Amino acid sequence: MKHRIKHFSEENSIESAEIIKKLTFLNTEDGLKQCLNDADFYLDIVRTFVEDNAIEDLKKFYYGNDWSGYRVKVHSLKSSSAYIGAEELREKAKRMEEAAKKQDVEYINLHHHQLLVLYEDVLRNIDALLPKWKNHTGTSTIKHFTISVVDDSKLNRQVVSEVLSDVYNIVEAGSGLEFFQQLDSGIRPDLVLLDVHMPMEDGHDIIKKLKADDKYVNIPVVFMTIDNDLSTELQGFEEGAVDFITKPLNPSLLLARINRILDLYYLQSNLQEEIKVRTKAILDKSQQMSTMLDQIIQALANTIDAKDKYTKGHSDRVSKYSVMLAKHMGYSEDQQQKVRYAGLLHDIGKIGIPDEIINKPAKLSPDEFAVIKSHSAIGGDILKTITSVREVFEAARWHHEHYDGTGYPDGLKARDIPEVARIICVADAYDAMTSIRPYRHEAFNQYEVRSEIEKELGKQFDPFIGNCMLQIIAEDTDFKLHE
Ligand SMILES: [Fe+2]
Repeated sequence: MKHRIKHFSEENSIESAEIIKKLTFLNTEDGLKQCLNDADFYLDIVRTFVEDNAIEDLKKFYYGNDWSGYRVKVHSLKSSSAYIGAEELREKAKRMEEAAKKQDVEYINLHHHQLLVLYEDVLRNIDALLPKWKNHTGTSTIKHFTISVVDDSKLNRQVVSEVLSDVYNIVEAGSGLEFFQQLDSGIRPDLVLLDVHMPMEDGHDIIKKLKADDKYVNIPVVFMTIDNDLSTELQGFEEGAVDFITKPLNPSLLLARINRILDLYYLQSNLQEEIKVRTKAILDKSQQMSTMLDQIIQALANTIDAKDKYTKGHSDRVSKYSVMLAKHMGYSEDQQQKVRYAGLLHDIGKIGIPDEIINKPAKLSPDEFAVIKSHSAIGGDILKTITSVREVFEAARWHHEHYDGTGYPDGLKARDIPEVARIICVADAYDAMTSIRPYRHEAFNQYEVRSEIEKELGKQFDPFIGNCMLQIIAEDTDFKLHE
């Protein structure tokens, strides 16, 4: 680098200082300090920064999911940005380097495009201020896009090249064969300018082949044609062309058109990518929340069951039987999930009942029994604020209501009792009958359970739901229901 400094004359140095004043988007003070306050040297570094444009490399590593390559590139971008005083870019590159180190693909996906935009802005701003820094052929050093020009007319290709090569990398092909050979050799154009009429493969054949290949299907294709008849254009659009340019080509129109197409096309595909990434992030988040909700409810159910040593696992089992009933009754998956939660939490009011009453091995006194019965009202109070899944409140408050109106706490009757509570009522009784309780040392056998349920149809149980339970029991020939 040093040898270049010697070539600057005194006059150059004054000019350099003037240029540096205009680089307001850089922290030139810092940059100059890094270069021992040598203005020419600093500008030399800035120039190298532009020449070492790594946008294509970043894209290549990003699309190839090569995070170690990506990390190396953002690392050197971080260092070079620091040298020239591009602070925002340095910060962004630093965060991307950290993300690449951790292989945090979600973060990289969300910020890669922003990094490129920021990087391109810095390059463009520098380039705009320093016209004399164009290279020997007079072309800009910043070329973000590659355009393939496929045309059998050498003259046409030359015109396109002449007009576009200042801004874009141009790759010429005189035939479809040559074009596909270029693709095979690894050239990946951002846009294809395609002549319609060519010997051998014509434009229609070529676009069909491109669109049939997953690797190339997303490359925008613009037809160049001398036909301005509607049917050719319609056919082209049907084949997937994004636009038409009519020959003979008007240079300024051509450049404006191509700029606009690329802007629109890549803005749109970035947006689509952005939407995809964000949708995935939201879905992941919502999956995570729903798993957490499941775990919290399960933990609450475990808390309820831990309180009552005689009914261990009761909430889990009631939840399981309730879901079987709901499924039998034709509930959707979503509704079944609500019933599951309702089953797990239906006895939550037991938390408010003293341990010595719940776990009393002897027969309860009428007063003690009244305290036990208050668990459904207490449960309702605990869950009444949960309005998003109303079923959990309904089940907790009304699972001891009887179909004939003789239950508690409100003496509701028949369909006035919410359906979920009527389901839990049957599942709850089934579990009580098939478990060992302090007042009963043996569980009912299947025959006794059936006759007990039949006896209570229309009394304790909703007859329809009770019958569903009977059917489920009848189908359970291996008696696996209560394991
Ligand atoms: Fe209960």
